[in-house]
Amino acid sequence: MTVRKLDSTLVLRLIAGLLIAGALALCGCALKDYPQSTLHPHSDYAESIQRLLETLVFWVVVIFVLVEGVLIWTVVRFRSRPGAPEPKPVHGNTTLEVAWTIAPALILAFVAVPTVLTIFKTQGRPPDGAMPVRVVGHQWWWEFQYPEYNITTASELHVPVGRPVAVSLETADVIHSFWFPAVGGKRDVVPSRVNHMWFTADSLGEFPGQCAELCGISHANMRAKLIVSKPEDFQAWVAAQQSPPVEPDSTSLAGKGKQVFLEVGCVACHTIQGISPGIIGPNLTHFGSRGSIAGATYLNNDDNLGKWLANPQARKPGATMLNLGLNPDQIAALVAYLQSLK
Ligand code: CUA
Repeated sequence: MTVRKLDSTLVLRLIAGLLIAGALALCGCALKDYPQSTLHPHSDYAESIQRLLETLVFWVVVIFVLVEGVLIWTVVRFRSRPGAPEPKPVHGNTTLEVAWTIAPALILAFVAVPTVLTIFKTQGRPPDGAMPVRVVGHQWWWEFQYPEYNITTASELHVPVGRPVAVSLETADVIHSFWFPAVGGKRDVVPSRVNHMWFTADSLGEFPGQCAELCGISHANMRAKLIVSKPEDFQAWVAAQQSPPVEPDSTSLAGKGKQVFLEVGCVACHTIQGISPGIIGPNLTHFGSRGSIAGATYLNNDDNLGKWLANPQARKPGATMLNLGLNPDQIAALVAYLQSLK
């Protein structure tokens, strides 16, 4: 009787397992609407990975159903019954052994062929005419350089829709991982080495990204935004970024902010083209044109910027941005100046 009970428990467990697997699959579909979902591709690269995933999941489901079906049938069919004779031991069935050697080999081929094809399709050299972007990871923000246009910016990667983007990936300090789930990839940036990937964004919009390698205390605050625009809007952005920084009226609040910027030490770490040469922190030449600050952790508005300048470590633990002990007047002036740098 005990043996029979055990069998029923086993069957119940198997059924529960199947239900959980089904529920997880459904959750995966629901996640499609989350902005950082990898199941919502917006580039050729992400699309290829998605197709590969779907192909593999198809085969996995077929195999799962077959194997679990046979298992459940076996458990039920051969369960112990009261008074049933001892089952006959079976050993050395050549046909079976050949079958269960060939079947996994075939399954592996079904997995390997599309995987290798996808690798060759996505990991080769970028197409001619791709836009080069040099990405540099820092604790804890991303720097984006456009050698073709001589632009350096931070936290927000602007690309035109439909043009391949060839990304080269480096780090200024530790290992980070570059990841915009919408366009695929996720590639580590490793000290003393340059990694590469390329993608062609196929939809307009803004897509969040996240450093995907534990890189220190503010790893979770090392975010970024991918902004995909129409080619003409992208060119307008390029032209604006290439223009020299705005020169504020020296009697205005922004003008006072510029003085504060020059006096309190910001210049040691930050570049404002033609004004300061620092390269430790983000280039601020067109700071006011960005929608976010502090590694895309906060929206760029006067309130957030003021709080950031007053105590960076309170807003982003471990931030290397110094707390300069600024007074409220200095902060207000700096905020006005930085926001004027459109
Ligand atoms: Cu950079 Cu995590």
